[in-house]
Amino acid sequence: MTSAPAFDQQIPASASPEVEFISLSHLNPSTELDPVPTRGIDLEYFRTYVRSLEEGGFDYTLLPYGSTTADSFVVASAVGQLTERIKPIVALRPNTTFPLVGAQKLATLDQLTEGRAVVHLISGGSDAEQARQGDYLPKDRRYARTSEYIDLLRRAWTEPAPFSHEGEFYKFDDFGPGFAPHDKPIPISIGGQSDEAFRVGGEKADIFSFWGEPLDDLRAEVERVHGIARAAGRTTLPRIWVTFRPIIAKTDELAWRKAHEYVARIADTFGKAAHGDRRARQGAPQNVGSQRALSFAERAELYDRALWTRTAAVTNAAGASTALVGSPETVAAAILDYVDRGADLVSIRGYDTLADAVDYGRYVLPLVRQELAHRRATGRRGTLQAEHPGNYGEDYRRFATAGRA
Ligand SMILES: Cc1cc2nc3c(=O)[nH]c(=O)nc-3n(C[C@H](O)[C@H](O)[C@H](O)COP(=O)(O)O)c2cc1C
Repeated sequence: MTSAPAFDQQIPASASPEVEFISLSHLNPSTELDPVPTRGIDLEYFRTYVRSLEEGGFDYTLLPYGSTTADSFVVASAVGQLTERIKPIVALRPNTTFPLVGAQKLATLDQLTEGRAVVHLISGGSDAEQARQGDYLPKDRRYARTSEYIDLLRRAWTEPAPFSHEGEFYKFDDFGPGFAPHDKPIPISIGGQSDEAFRVGGEKADIFSFWGEPLDDLRAEVERVHGIARAAGRTTLPRIWVTFRPIIAKTDELAWRKAHEYVARIADTFGKAAHGDRRARQGAPQNVGSQRALSFAERAELYDRALWTRTAAVTNAAGASTALVGSPETVAAAILDYVDRGADLVSIRGYDTLADAVDYGRYVLPLVRQELAHRRATGRRGTLQAEHPGNYGEDYRRFATAGRA
C-alpha cells in the first residue's frame, strides 16, 4: 500500500475541468495477446473498430505511423468518412512530407471532416528507423526541423498572400495562399520526452503528450512543459495528453487475474518477436519516453492507485505500454488522479483491443465524465476516488501479488 492522499471534497487547483478521450485505431484483429501474422487492413474489422470508438464516446483516435505501417493520412481520411464525430489524429514524421504538402494534406482532411483533423508530430525516436526512410539527421536536429515545420504548417494555413521562406531545413519561393483548414488552425501535438521535445512542445505545440507515468513524475513534467510555454510568452498553455493501456474486469481481483494472464502472453509474443517489428524491440531504446518507462519499471511494479509497469518491462517499453489495472471504478478513479494533475486528454487502449474499446466506452468513460459533471455542478469532488482506493486500500496489493508467476 502506498501512502493514501486525502480524497476530500476539495478539487485540486491543478485539476482540469474537462477531459476528452483518445484511442488508437487498429486495422486488423492482431494484438499483442493473439498475434495474427498479417500486416494487412481487415476492412470489416477496421470499420467495426472505429464505429465502436464513436459509439463508445471517444473523442479522438490516433493513427500511428512507422516505416512499415499503413499510411496514417490515408487511414485518417477513411476514419473521417466512417464516422461523424470522432477526430482523427494523424501521426506525421516531418521527414516524410514537405511541410507545405503536409499542411495541404491536413487542410484537406480537415475540410473532408468538417474541422476534425489533428496532427501529432513525431520527430523520430530511433536513428535506425529514421534511416529506413532516408532520414540521417541526429535527434536534436530532427526536433529543430520539427520546430521549423510547425511554423510553416501554421503559415501555410493562415497567410493570406503568397510568401517565400529560407530557413535551416526548408526553402521555397512564392507559395500560397495555401489550401485552408475548415474554419480554424488544426491542433498540433508533440510526442516525445527528450529535452528537445519539451523545448519545441513548450514553445509551440497545442498539445503535449506522455505515456503513463507515476503521478508525481507526470505532474513535474506538466509543470516543466508549462514553464517553458510561459517563459516563451504564451498565455494559452499546451493541453496535456497522457496514455495508458488499462486492464479492467468486474472487480479489482478479477482484473489482476487477467493482468497476470495477459502479461505472460504479451511476454511470450515479444519473446518470440512474432508481433510487430522485431528490430525495433532490440537493445536499449533511444527515445527518452521508452527509457523513462523502463526506469519506472525497474524502480517498482506498482505505483499510486493502479499504475502497473510489468507490461512495459516485458515489451522493452516499445510504444505506450504502462497499464492501469482494476475494476472500471478503480481505473476511472486512477484516470481522475491524472486529471487532478492537469491531464485533459486521456488516451486509453487495451491489450484486447476491440473488446476493450467497447468495455471502456460502456464502463469507464461514463464514470469519469459523471465525476467531472458532478464537480462542475457542485464545485466539489464526488466520492469515486475515495470509494475505490485501489492500491491505497487494503486488498489490492494482495490481488496484485497473488497471481504473480
Ligand atoms: C502519445 C504518443 C504517440 C506516439 N506515436 C508515435 C507514432 O505513431 N510513431 C512513432 O514513430 N513514434 C511515436 N511516438 C514516439 C515519440 O514521439 C518518438 O519516439 C519521439 O519522436 C522521440 O522521442 P524522445 O523525444 O522521447 O526521445 C509517440 C509518442 C507518444 C507520447
